[in-house]
Amino acid sequence: MSGKIAPIEKIAPTEVAIHDLLSSRWSPRAVSNEAVSREQLHSVLEAARWAPSSFNMQPWRFMTFDRNRDAAVFQKAFATLVPFNQGWNANVPVLICALAKTVTPKGDVNRTAAYDTGAAAMSLVLQAHALGLVSHQMTGFDINAFREAFSVPDDVEVIAMISLGHYCDPGTLDAALQERESAPRTRAALGDIAFDGAWGKAFK
Ligand SMILES: Cc1cc2nc3c(=O)[nH]c(=O)nc-3n(C[C@H](O)[C@H](O)[C@H](O)COP(=O)(O)O)c2cc1C
Repeated sequence: MSGKIAPIEKIAPTEVAIHDLLSSRWSPRAVSNEAVSREQLHSVLEAARWAPSSFNMQPWRFMTFDRNRDAAVFQKAFATLVPFNQGWNANVPVLICALAKTVTPKGDVNRTAAYDTGAAAMSLVLQAHALGLVSHQMTGFDINAFREAFSVPDDVEVIAMISLGHYCDPGTLDAALQERESAPRTRAALGDIAFDGAWGKAFK
């Protein structure tokens, strides 16, 4: 299976113009078995590294699993995905787990650890998109199994798994997933999520 095709265009139907990198990003499931180069992987991790964080504490951690580097370790991470996610990730070359260190160097709870880690993950995802790769974040995996399999310390929260690879023919997906793959991207209206000076007062 070759990954040398561009993803379907699913430009967000935004209310006002936003940057192309943001409006054209989406979360594909048709991913080929083509390898992600070390340079590409380095690049997306570097983008995550430069995310902002509270007090510049950089609570994010990323564990990478490259099928073409260590198939056995990759398989250990892959095995924690729920069956649905295993199905469409059957060929994916790279999984990345995003984790957050929840305790500050002083020993206090870092209230924004998950927030900061999400920001770093978004940087990673946008860099992947800028490189012409596809990425897809996932909550559908067994966090306890992952924690145990990779001896994650107690003060680190396992947040999300991200698959990374190259787009392929969506015809390789089953019928239900093909439909989801081509479905338009949707969001709540801006007024439902952005308030103008008072709770619930829609921003216009
Ligand atoms: C934290 C997080 C967890 C997600 N978990 C899954 C998942 O387990 N499986 C899946 O197929 N998609 C998952 N998604 C993808 C979302 O369903 C997707 O981002 C959302 O529907 C919006 O689509 P878009 O990214 O194409 O705009 C997840 C996304 C995020 C950010």
